[in-house]
Amino acid sequence: MCGIVGYVGKEDATPILLHGLQKLEYRGYDSAGIAVRNHDSDSLVVKAEGKISNLIQKLNQMDFHSTSGIGHSRWSTHGKPSETNAHPHHSDDFNVIGVHNGIIENYQELKEKLIRKKYNFYSETDTEIIIKLIDYYYKKYKIGPIDAINKALVRARGSYALAIMFKDYPDQVWFAKNGSPLIVAKGENGCYLASDVPAILKYTNKVYYVSDLECGVIKENDVRFYDLNGDDITESKKITVIDWNSDAADLGNWPHYMLKEINEQPKAIRDTINAYVKEDGKLDFKSIGLTQEYLNKLDEIYIFACGSAYHAGLVAQYAIEDLAGVNVRLELASEFKYRNYKMNRNSLAIVISQSGETKDTYEAMLKAKENGVKTLAICNVKGSTISRSADFNAYTYAGPEIAVATTKAYSCQLIVLYLFALFLARTNYKLDKDEYYNLINVVKQIPNKVEEILNNQTSVQRLASRFVNKRDVFFIGRGIDYAVCMEGALKLKEITYINSNAYAAGELKHGTISLIESGVAIIGVATQPELIEKTVSNMVEVKSRDGSVVALTIEGNDVEKASKYQLYIPSFNPHFMASLAIIPLQLLSYYVSVSKGIDPDKPKNLAKSVTVE
Ligand code: AGP
Repeated sequence: MCGIVGYVGKEDATPILLHGLQKLEYRGYDSAGIAVRNHDSDSLVVKAEGKISNLIQKLNQMDFHSTSGIGHSRWSTHGKPSETNAHPHHSDDFNVIGVHNGIIENYQELKEKLIRKKYNFYSETDTEIIIKLIDYYYKKYKIGPIDAINKALVRARGSYALAIMFKDYPDQVWFAKNGSPLIVAKGENGCYLASDVPAILKYTNKVYYVSDLECGVIKENDVRFYDLNGDDITESKKITVIDWNSDAADLGNWPHYMLKEINEQPKAIRDTINAYVKEDGKLDFKSIGLTQEYLNKLDEIYIFACGSAYHAGLVAQYAIEDLAGVNVRLELASEFKYRNYKMNRNSLAIVISQSGETKDTYEAMLKAKENGVKTLAICNVKGSTISRSADFNAYTYAGPEIAVATTKAYSCQLIVLYLFALFLARTNYKLDKDEYYNLINVVKQIPNKVEEILNNQTSVQRLASRFVNKRDVFFIGRGIDYAVCMEGALKLKEITYINSNAYAAGELKHGTISLIESGVAIIGVATQPELIEKTVSNMVEVKSRDGSVVALTIEGNDVEKASKYQLYIPSFNPHFMASLAIIPLQLLSYYVSVSKGIDPDKPKNLAKSVTVE
């Protein structure tokens, strides 16, 4: 999705806006632009197609001191990527200039209304329409920005995070939010707004999360919030302190954020474990509200998520059922909304989301709440939309994750889910005290095991060169290994553009095996002791049909006959094996992507946070 930024303060706005956009580039990057204004209300709008570096090049030719401004990095929804369609968009007289993240669904109807009022349009975007609608109501009713914004937005259907400048109000940036993320903050040298925390972490870690249907204004040293009636609600807003240090989102000396974040996993996992395992070795989920009384009444657990978060949920399904004996129903959040499913009120709905902004997952959570089911959010961003709506929050402590392909956040989701499964198993006495403490200590070993794998990357790097020209890759596995295959296949496809898909190994014979022929690569994941034999025989099946097999298995397991190449990882408790098995697959995807000359941090067509349905 797009990224928006805004600033009003003592300093020149341009470098601050560009810094913010660079920190948000992971949200969308087919074009970018800024609009800045000085005290005399003179404004400058500069836009460029492609990466933000193209915009910077253009701005370096200009000399315009400004004290307020807005910026936008685009991931196009309406209108192809182009300079004309890039934001900011403005009324013909530049009376109103704005940037937008989201989708205005009834843009056509609003456009026709404005055409009847003699407005013209230069772009193909829904954003130009909403900005001109605000301009229309501002001029028609002449009672100020908040009124114009509210009159326009009550007529708009869809999602938006808007930053808007009015010619009559220099040194002020107005904002409005519904459905797309938006934060505002007050720093020493001015006030800021942005789609996400990394854009402003350099200036302050104290932020306000704007709620749906709220609007407001940032000035040099003031932030005001209003509701749809235009009433001032500032006093009701709470500050959230972000516990990330300002350079946590910096690339440092790493070539790409993805490699940095893969290598941050041992620390991220340790930080997440330490958030729940207390000095006495016990797990603490009570402090987030999950009491023994509540958990003991649970008939079943639902898990809703998308993408990699869904794959973490697939691992959790096995862990919770095996360890705690509670049935788990895992659903793709984007599909669950179409189900006419009567949820069991004596259940808990777990929603997993790194960003805490994924609209599909948020909608699934709302549906659970409508069914009277309590919700537990596992998010990596405090104050995110999903975390603010959940009944309970069990955060991951991965730190800011910038790369579009998630790695450390996924690994931390697994940790929270393992620990939750153990806490639940102890609560309902499925685990005796010794087993409980022993398994907690096993989980505490995961960071070291991950470190061991990260310190032995050569076999993966060597193997990567054999995948560069592959067109199709099949991942096969059973049980938790199948869950690992799902995540491994997504990693490979999303940053190398190779058609890679996961199949339950037992499914091959039901059709898929007809696709196996010379040149097709198969990655067989076999780490579950009770299932290794069956999966290895599947590898033999595909190898005998000239498939090129890579076996990912535990040390000591002889798979040479069933495979052409082998990747070995340390043997570990089967319940938690996914945390180890995914590491070589993350690395493989990264090295193949880089070998293909792709920027793994900015894969085509993708954005870090999908805030539209
Ligand atoms: C994972 O590498 C992808 N970027 C994507 O599948 C992601 O996991 C999915 O969009 C869910 O995002 P969330 O965790 O922020 O909800």
